[in-house]
Amino acid sequence: MSTQTPIRRNTVPQIAARKGGEPIVSLTSYHAHTAAIVDKYADFILVGDSLGMVMHGMDSTVGVSLDMMITHGKAVVRGTQKALIVVDMPFGTYEESPAIAFRNAAKIMKETGCGAVKLEGGARIADTIRFLTERGIPVMAHIGLTPQSSHVMGGFKTQGRDEDSWPLHETDAKAVTEAGAFAIVLEGMVEPLAAKITKQIPIPSIGIGASVECDGQILVLEDMLGLNAWTPKFVKVYGNLGPQIEEAVSQYADEVKSRAFPTEAETYS
Ligand code: KIV
Repeated sequence: MSTQTPIRRNTVPQIAARKGGEPIVSLTSYHAHTAAIVDKYADFILVGDSLGMVMHGMDSTVGVSLDMMITHGKAVVRGTQKALIVVDMPFGTYEESPAIAFRNAAKIMKETGCGAVKLEGGARIADTIRFLTERGIPVMAHIGLTPQSSHVMGGFKTQGRDEDSWPLHETDAKAVTEAGAFAIVLEGMVEPLAAKITKQIPIPSIGIGASVECDGQILVLEDMLGLNAWTPKFVKVYGNLGPQIEEAVSQYADEVKSRAFPTEAETYS
């Protein structure tokens, strides 16, 4: 008989209950190995559709497919034990109708084993969020700067600079909350607006470029590790892995070329 206590994954109600409490820690991850490290510190991990740009070299998230999200979602679930895993619904898989959104969200949950999905949009997508949550699919909402709509928004622009636009964002936050979202990502939003929305809603706000006023924070892992050639201005870079990887690769290349490569076949296992 095993004497070890099994590690329990964080649940959606546990994350929702953190409203106004200890700030929620979250990061993106797309692979089993990075997810295993992040899992030690994060309350939830997002398998974000940013993987299209970060991992696959796309110039936006629009081209990301359901299969890509499922492949990476599976890897992250396999690599983790503790964090709640949230998987993004990619562009084109949920906007057409609540029924299509349900079919695709259910596929993501069944095939990856994740605990929730995230989708972008406010009032316009509230009926879909209600349809999913009433049928057992926990939904994290995402408003403010919504990268899947960057073509409509005219690029990646901070939201709420003009105070006249605040009521639209506040309406979005209220609509997705009333539709049953358990948390809401506020992306690229000026601090006073993020603070106002955070006070108005009973569910945790998770900020990305939306100030310390949110109930939690999320960053794209590769941004904060210094792995991307370009990172948004608000990102604090905590690691400098790009140059470290380059140094290791160049040392390896030198050793192979000069026949100084140390591994003997006998040392394989
Ligand atoms: O796709 C993603 O990584 C995201 C975060 C930026 C919140 O949606």
